[in-house]
Amino acid sequence: MTIAPQTLSQSTFVAPTAISGLYSHFIAGKRVQGDGDPDLVRANPARTDQVLGSLRSADQRLVDETMRVSAAAWSKWRNTSAPSRGRVLLNAARLMETYREELAHLIALEEGKAVKDARGEVQRSINITEFMAGEGRRFGGYTSASETATKFACTVRQPLGVVVLVTPWNFPLAIPAWKVAPALIAGNAVILKPASGTPACAVRLAELYQEAGLPDGILNVLAARGGGAAEALLDAPQLKAVSLTGSTVTGLHVASRCAARGVPVQAELGGKNAAIVLADADLDLAAAGIADGAFGSTGQRCTATSRVIVVESVADAFLDRLIARTRALKIGDGSLEETDIGPAVSAEQRDTVLRYVEIGLEEGAQEVYRGDVSGLEHGHWLAPLVFDQVSPSMRVAKEEIFGPVVSMIRVPDAQAAFEAANGVEYGLAASIYTRDVQSVFRFIDQVDVGIAHVNQPTLGGEVHLPFGGVKSSGFGPHEQGREAVDFFTQVKTVYINHG
Ligand code: UN1
Repeated sequence: MTIAPQTLSQSTFVAPTAISGLYSHFIAGKRVQGDGDPDLVRANPARTDQVLGSLRSADQRLVDETMRVSAAAWSKWRNTSAPSRGRVLLNAARLMETYREELAHLIALEEGKAVKDARGEVQRSINITEFMAGEGRRFGGYTSASETATKFACTVRQPLGVVVLVTPWNFPLAIPAWKVAPALIAGNAVILKPASGTPACAVRLAELYQEAGLPDGILNVLAARGGGAAEALLDAPQLKAVSLTGSTVTGLHVASRCAARGVPVQAELGGKNAAIVLADADLDLAAAGIADGAFGSTGQRCTATSRVIVVESVADAFLDRLIARTRALKIGDGSLEETDIGPAVSAEQRDTVLRYVEIGLEEGAQEVYRGDVSGLEHGHWLAPLVFDQVSPSMRVAKEEIFGPVVSMIRVPDAQAAFEAANGVEYGLAASIYTRDVQSVFRFIDQVDVGIAHVNQPTLGGEVHLPFGGVKSSGFGPHEQGREAVDFFTQVKTVYINHG
């Protein structure tokens, strides 16, 4: 095992050469290279001839060692008071502010998203870390009356031990940040397993925590290509809980593996989010929100708008506006300020999306708009695409595509819109555009999702409120909000007889 030197300094521009050192594992406060030739090579998704870095995937030996390191380090953090833990989080949030531009450019370079979206992602990472820092001073259980006058009864919340966080490539900083922050404020030791496409962002986050005063070994990063390292982590005897964001297939696999050992899993999975446009909607607002929801971040968000369910009487007028908005989006290298839509994260992801476009056409969906990427070279480019005349039974109306493709379903009225919205296996987010208060309340009551938006896109959420889906979109307690700490703690009930 060799230790690479730390090379990143504070800067607003991240040259690819400056980040190659981040292609490593991070164990016990140090960048660590695995033994053997690199098998994970990451190229810039906007310039596939440019290699950003490479590493040797974590193997069983590295997993075992990291588990040992984390378990040994844990007691120090567990025995640090929660408000003091909060101070470390607050320092980490401040460091993210200091390195805001560097982080945004790192995200744009590694994941491919537009740097203006990447700035939003950094801000979100700051927000969740700041919020969870405050939870350090609110940490604990509650007191209760006892059945006996001379007894005192209360609950205390305690950390679990070593927890594993499995994160995707599409929010390479924010999703690690929003899982790490509650896990740490609760007093756990963390092993973060980032997606193989975006390990550098995760390592940088861990380094900022270390600079913020987190003891060595409390936040470790293990990167790997393929699922081997994750499987080894799930089987480790020290493992106490897993929080995962990924596909529904992966989530179910991890959950069933962990269930056999009684290890709890929090899973944030896929989506097939609908935006409903009713006859009285502000069509300009709807078109703006739906273009943003469908094509922002190249559609690579679990909360992306994938279906537009429009009442027939306004469908043509809405579609004109949506196409005009979409036409104005600039596709290109995410590192450039003017870019709205960066490339797909990988060739594989681009090919999956293009296959869905073919499937839609074969099923009879009408392609009414496709952006132009013909002049772009050396990247995994995807053009935004709008399908009209989609029926709810088509695969493009039911399956998660995870790319800049939106399917428009025409319906006669609001009730039919709600039924179409619920007619998929997913239930993450939905939105409605209307000015009618009765429709708003019916929507909130009837739509089967974890997050309901009114007159705004299906995207995202605010970090101090819970985030998560129902049906096949997730299980276990939701992330973020005050509830986020619950998953990472266990409750002890205490009775004190003072009679
Ligand atoms: C967002 O859309 O802003 O993987 C957040 C995802 C989600 C997070 C989405 N877990 O896309």
